[in-house]
Amino acid sequence: MGNPIIAGNWKMNGTITESLRLVSDMKDELHRIPRVTKILFPPSVALSSIANLVYASSIELGAQNMHYEVSGAFTGEISAAMVKENCSWVLLGHSERRGLFHESDEDINRKLSAAYANRINPILCVGESLEQRESGQTQEVLRQQLAKATSDLPSINNLTVAYEPVWAIGTGKAATLNVVEETLADLRAFMETEWGDDGRGVPIMYGGSVNEANATAFGQSPYIAGLLVGGASLDAAAFISLTRQFAETKTQAE
Ligand code: 13P
Repeated sequence: MGNPIIAGNWKMNGTITESLRLVSDMKDELHRIPRVTKILFPPSVALSSIANLVYASSIELGAQNMHYEVSGAFTGEISAAMVKENCSWVLLGHSERRGLFHESDEDINRKLSAAYANRINPILCVGESLEQRESGQTQEVLRQQLAKATSDLPSINNLTVAYEPVWAIGTGKAATLNVVEETLADLRAFMETEWGDDGRGVPIMYGGSVNEANATAFGQSPYIAGLLVGGASLDAAAFISLTRQFAETKTQAE
């Protein structure tokens, strides 16, 4: 397994100026935290300026979304080649993309193919709604999201999965460790059945109301390979602190 991963998804927050300030406030300290992969997902308009700022640091960049077509009449979209200029990562299938922008599993599947074709590391987000969890559909929903997104891909090398239950995103109510571990154990079992050894190696992250107060507990779980952080990644001190906690906890567990 590779290094633990901490990713900050800034969503649609901050102007370019504010994004640059936020990176400036966190970059030196983040850079110095060893043995953890640190990825920022700022708004796409800020990527190129931020790339200059983090150049030669240990901070990596990703896009929050991209289109699957190579180029053409897709007003408002960005392509994999555009992402690739500044980023080594892309988030795909975030629940806000699925829910608010009606992205289907088929769209996400095409986007994953585009990421592979362009050698961009994809983080595939999966997650169930509260209604799905309460009606006992979680396992089926997550398995379907995973299977459809990866259908007919030539390989799942470099795939990272992020489990983000919709009901834990932006609510301040993170999933309990029990729920996360039980869910991740099932996702892992499914991946091993589907892909054998390759499935065993896919890192699975957790996201949903991660903050300074729960990062250590999540770090102690052998199931959790990384954290995908929304709101708390917009606060430099909080993001540095939770990254440090997660890295230290993971190092102690080795
Ligand atoms: P919050 O950390 O704000 O709950 O957001 C999680 C998320 O959606 C990260 O992708």
